[in-house]
Amino acid sequence: MQITMVKKRLEGGAACGKCDQAEDLLKERGAWPRIDRVVWAHEDDPSSEGMRLAGEHGIDTAPFFLVEQEDGATVAYTSVLKLLRERLTAAPPSLRRDVDLDAKRIEELAMDLSSLTPQEVITWVLEHFGKDCGIAFSGAEDVALIDMAARSGHDFNVFCLDTGRLHAETYRFIDEVRKHYGLEIEMISPEPAPLRAFVRKKGLFSFYEDGHKECCGVRKVEPLKRVLGEHRAWATGQRRDQSPTRADVPVLQLDPAFSGRDGALVKTNPLAEWSSEQTWRYIRDNGVPFNPLHTRGFVSIGCEPCTRPINPSQHEREGRWWWEEATQKECGLHAKH
Ligand code: ADX
Ligand code: SF4
Repeated sequence: MQITMVKKRLEGGAACGKCDQAEDLLKERGAWPRIDRVVWAHEDDPSSEGMRLAGEHGIDTAPFFLVEQEDGATVAYTSVLKLLRERLTAAPPSLRRDVDLDAKRIEELAMDLSSLTPQEVITWVLEHFGKDCGIAFSGAEDVALIDMAARSGHDFNVFCLDTGRLHAETYRFIDEVRKHYGLEIEMISPEPAPLRAFVRKKGLFSFYEDGHKECCGVRKVEPLKRVLGEHRAWATGQRRDQSPTRADVPVLQLDPAFSGRDGALVKTNPLAEWSSEQTWRYIRDNGVPFNPLHTRGFVSIGCEPCTRPINPSQHEREGRWWWEEATQKECGLHAKH
């Protein structure tokens, strides 16, 4: 299906207000990426492509939409609401597990999934991958994702990278979540030999002196690599509003850094488009348990020595690795390359 939106340009060059409103509505509903093409009808130029299409379809209003169907027929819509209702309230796409794992198909699916709610995205992923999908749970507000997965009615796995340095409150909270949802949560520890060698050589707080990459490498990245090697997909609680380094996190992608059991690994970030406020509204409205550190000024929560509370005027990422540059604040779990 190909969708063309025809917008009108008034004499003088401005876009018509109704056209802009329709565009805003499509963006609000997350349906804008489903519009394949925008063409202009110039009020003072009957030969412009939009004016020509209007004449061809007998339409004298703007905006309007032309939907080219798979069977070759074209259907015109003059109501954006009708278009949303009939064409864009996502019937979730389908994934043929063994043949569709190429980057282009995943990109197309990501576009389709981006008009769904986080609950619908995780349900879709679990429907396709079930226990082959591991949900990476950090013990913070990403508990919302576990709640959504539990409500989906599908099987799923949860794992937590047990760095050995999490807050006591976080360990207790992880166990509370385990009991609350009746889940098995796999705690993944670092490989003992490299951890021993690292601590022997550099002690327990080297990250304050030469950055967090080395410690995160041993305590988080290597264990993650190991656990992902058992899965075909994984789900994270990453959101675009968490950090400048996450501004373009997609809802679905092929993991650019890690491999899964069969090679290509699907990574989903169902909360990508949600703000912190939306996540917390979900937690409150659904009676989801949360880490008590959140009531003590901790917003983004990681390991104890690398996490501190923030005040309301600070960005959440300022509570993590505060001695380092904002653009360096990724630990390798979500590498882009
Ligand atoms: S981090 O890369 O800076 O540590 P952040 O704390 O923002 O990540 O969490 C983003 C997502 O990464 C979480 O929602 C979770 O999916 C995953 N994640 C982070 N830390 C862990 C952890 N210790 N165990 C499992 N998943 C984690
Ligand atoms: Fe080590 Fe800090 Fe990274 Fe935890 S967050 S693994 S303590 S550097």
